[in-house]
Amino acid sequence: MCGIVGYIGQSSAPSILVSGLKRLEYRGYDSAGLSIVTDGSIQTCKAAGKVAALDERVGTTWTGDDLEKAHVGIAHTRWATHGPPTEVNAHPHHDLNSGIALVHNGIIENYRSLRQRLEADGHTFLSETDTEVLAHLIGQGYKGDLVQAVCDALHQVEGTFGIAVIAADKPDQIITARRGSPIVIGVGNGETIIASDAAAIISHTRQVIYLEDNDLAIVTADGVEIRDFNSVPVTREVAELGFDADAAEKGGYEHFMLKEIHEQPESLANAIRGRLDFNLGSSVLSGMGTSSRDLAEINRVVLLGCGTSLHAGLVGEYAFEDLADLHAEVHQAAEFRYRNPLIGRSDLVVAISQSGETADTLAAVREANQKGAFVMGLCNVVGSTIARETGRGVYLHAGPEISVASTKAFTCQVAVLLMIALKLARGRRYSREQGMHLAKQIDSIPEFVRATIAQNEAIAELARHYADNEHAFFIGRGCMYPVALEGALKLKEISYIHAEGYHAAELKHGPIALLEEGTPVIAIATDIPGKDKTLGNVEECRARGARILGVITEGDEEAAAYMDDVIRVPACDPLVSTIPATVALQLLAYHIARIRGCEIDQPRNLAKSVTVE
Ligand code: F6R
Repeated sequence: MCGIVGYIGQSSAPSILVSGLKRLEYRGYDSAGLSIVTDGSIQTCKAAGKVAALDERVGTTWTGDDLEKAHVGIAHTRWATHGPPTEVNAHPHHDLNSGIALVHNGIIENYRSLRQRLEADGHTFLSETDTEVLAHLIGQGYKGDLVQAVCDALHQVEGTFGIAVIAADKPDQIITARRGSPIVIGVGNGETIIASDAAAIISHTRQVIYLEDNDLAIVTADGVEIRDFNSVPVTREVAELGFDADAAEKGGYEHFMLKEIHEQPESLANAIRGRLDFNLGSSVLSGMGTSSRDLAEINRVVLLGCGTSLHAGLVGEYAFEDLADLHAEVHQAAEFRYRNPLIGRSDLVVAISQSGETADTLAAVREANQKGAFVMGLCNVVGSTIARETGRGVYLHAGPEISVASTKAFTCQVAVLLMIALKLARGRRYSREQGMHLAKQIDSIPEFVRATIAQNEAIAELARHYADNEHAFFIGRGCMYPVALEGALKLKEISYIHAEGYHAAELKHGPIALLEEGTPVIAIATDIPGKDKTLGNVEECRARGARILGVITEGDEEAAAYMDDVIRVPACDPLVSTIPATVALQLLAYHIARIRGCEIDQPRNLAKSVTVE
């Protein structure tokens, strides 16, 4: 949520900062800005709206000469928390008296009291943001030692932050620090790049340092020195980024979302490769880091996540109960720590997060750790905070997901959850034969998904019948109930159609009152236990004039007869079939949004990783 970039080196800082922001724009895109140091002063350029507007503004504000001689700067793309997305609220924020400029990701919770105190001391504020308070706080303490001033200010703030700070009289350094909001530093040859996400760094260098909470770094063109907030030196390893710059490009697709949908056969193959043992009929997930004895002691699985990741957890719930005979519960991560959950040593807690930075999921992880549970992460972003704080887990290997609407991360999350369930199942009642069968099914997921994606054009055609509606209902039962939730979420977030997902049986307990002639009902009625009941629910909807689009199993003509339109997915194991069924709904949402002319990769009001509670 919000993107930060900082650059110090020999090249022109503004162009590097703007191209870095473009790579981070998915994190927030309601305003953007950058500050550079030239000739002993800070110059700033801001624009409401997307980074393209800032890019244009930079071109008209600064001459070629200005741009050439600016070798240090900080930049930000914003997802508004405090104050509307106006130019004045855009970062960087300043303390003009001391010549400090700062970009910030996170929330300063005690900003009101700090602001009152600073105003009483004569500081004048221009914006409504919490961030400007931090700029003034640093400025107030700045007497020539920027590190000391930042440390002093950070001791006074409550809340979360990832920051980058420059001073007009310190053109040779950027100070960056984090607590609860990611900062990664790319160490190049004679240049150093700071960012909230490695996507902004990868085209410059693969050598990166991830800051830990309560780390502060003094960044120069020649290197990085890391300390804690009491200025005590700390050591952090240099890591190598595992993806290349092309993975963060559209590669000929009209949108990142379409590219990421099409990447799924490959991303799923990467998530699955080397993790199945066909001989034992089990899975090999070394990152879980437990002996089979430890696993045998687990008597409950608790799955945590938000949004799409929560829906993956709901599929996991069915898998753990069905395959491993284990009691499983899914918790909305934001609620977890406030309800004082009953949790302990025999609970396996699986934190599911594509970004690995979602504040609510991270807080839930800390609560589960506190209570002594066996906590593991299911993250996509390598080195992300949740991945590091859980210390064990399974990476998704889906590759960078740039589209704000999650697609390939979800399908990889489900595939990995199935493999964890398989491993636990084999330690319990699941036979070798059953395990071998499921392992083969999991191994075939990329093929099932490829066959679903092959219907892209047909789905695009179908989408025309559904693009003009303002409401839609998605129904499913069993493990297809979470798929209905996910289908509805995808549609509403990118097309702005009001879409609701319901358990198929639940519709008649109230929501059916909303059905009118032509209201779309998308029924996920693949060949799983309970399908006949779902078909009965479809009949109830048809009787009220709804137009039914069925996601059904290939060759199931009985189910097809109930539907106005169908998308067919390959016949496979019920839990496995949640993946191709979801892919079908991703494509449907994409094409409906495209027909409606929506901003698919960056839907309004959203941001990719939600690092505020
Ligand atoms: C929806 C979507 C969000 C995320 C949610 C959690 O398409 O992407 O609902 O799933 O914000 O994000 P992560 O998985 O990064 O914790």
